[in-house]
Amino acid sequence: MKAYLGLAITVVSVFAIAIDGCHCKIVQFIFGDSLSDVGNNKYLGRSLAQASLPYYGIDYGNGLPNGRFTNGRTVADIIGDKTGLPRPPAFLDPSLTEDIILENGVNYASGGGGILNETGSILIAFHKAPAPVLTVDAEIQRFSLYKQIELFEGTQELIRSKIGKEKADKFFQGSRYVVALGSNDFINNYLMPVYADSWTYNDNSFMDYLMETLGAQLKLLHKRGARQLMVFGLGPMGCIPLQRVLSTSGTGGCQSRTNKLALSFNKAASKLLNDLSSSLPNANYRFGDAYDVVDDLIKNPSKYGFENSDKPCCSFGRIRPALTCVPASTLCKDRSKYVFWDEYHPTDAANELIANEIIKKLGFLRVDKPEPPSQEPAAAPSPEEF
Ligand SMILES: *[C@@H]1O[C@H](CO)[C@@H](O)[C@H](O)[C@H]1NC(C)=O
Repeated sequence: MKAYLGLAITVVSVFAIAIDGCHCKIVQFIFGDSLSDVGNNKYLGRSLAQASLPYYGIDYGNGLPNGRFTNGRTVADIIGDKTGLPRPPAFLDPSLTEDIILENGVNYASGGGGILNETGSILIAFHKAPAPVLTVDAEIQRFSLYKQIELFEGTQELIRSKIGKEKADKFFQGSRYVVALGSNDFINNYLMPVYADSWTYNDNSFMDYLMETLGAQLKLLHKRGARQLMVFGLGPMGCIPLQRVLSTSGTGGCQSRTNKLALSFNKAASKLLNDLSSSLPNANYRFGDAYDVVDDLIKNPSKYGFENSDKPCCSFGRIRPALTCVPASTLCKDRSKYVFWDEYHPTDAANELIANEIIKKLGFLRVDKPEPPSQEPAAAPSPEEF
């Protein structure tokens, strides 16, 4: 019994990396949209952005839908795994407790959410018909980034009353933060003429508005204790199957204006993060995107061992676009060879490639077994491995 207890304590202390004054684990707090959602929207009963039906989650755990908008893992799952961090549960998971938060962190990401409050307030539903059905509902449920930060403030309150202010401050300052939003601010806002933002702004002024908002949000997170933070950039979102099928040219090609917006978002966000990192005290704020690799993957899928880079693996016959993957859909034969899982979201296989690229760019190391930096990080496999 004694030996058993001794072993348990050793194991605990190996993984509990002491944060000065607080014997806390390093955990993650994740803010994002459907690309990082691990189940929040499942509990938002009236949200149109849902991944609650088969075949979402078919390659994850028991294969049942778990709230992830893909067949397997998200990019944040994979980066967390490869850097030795636990996977944080969804904020709305009914089993979430202070102890679970201290052990695993929290994921606030929500499908349809954006940097801007107004993003995702209108969603277009495609009902097995070429004509889209417009659903306008001021209360369509999704957590915008401001809302997610508000929820995080509530979490901080909870942890302070559990372990005291001083320890809680150390815990939150020692944690890792992921902020991954922006696609919806374009796809489900600026690029849709039903939104006021689409006629209020032009490309330049909209980007300024986005960066101003994101800057204020990241400063707020710093004020709340965030020190180690990374922001994921956007991929070539003009090439998601939905954008191709809606392309007015009728050729099914990528929408180059949408891709240009993604590139200029990445450029502006990268500069913003550099500025914040040098101006905010003790902040290590980083930006990482995988635009170039995904762009190359889409243009040359076979180079990476993929076979299809323009259609969703899960589709409803020839009826396109389908709003989501549903039980009546048919699946592609080999999910590891498709870049896209549904009209919007990459497959687990593509997410792995994206995660590896971000890890490589940011030079991440595992938190549980620090290694000296090397020129060739093990986490950056050559394309042949895919
Ligand atoms: C956005 O929403 C948050 C609440 O979630 C609110 O505090 C904030 O004032 C809103 N910002 C704008 C610009 O509307």
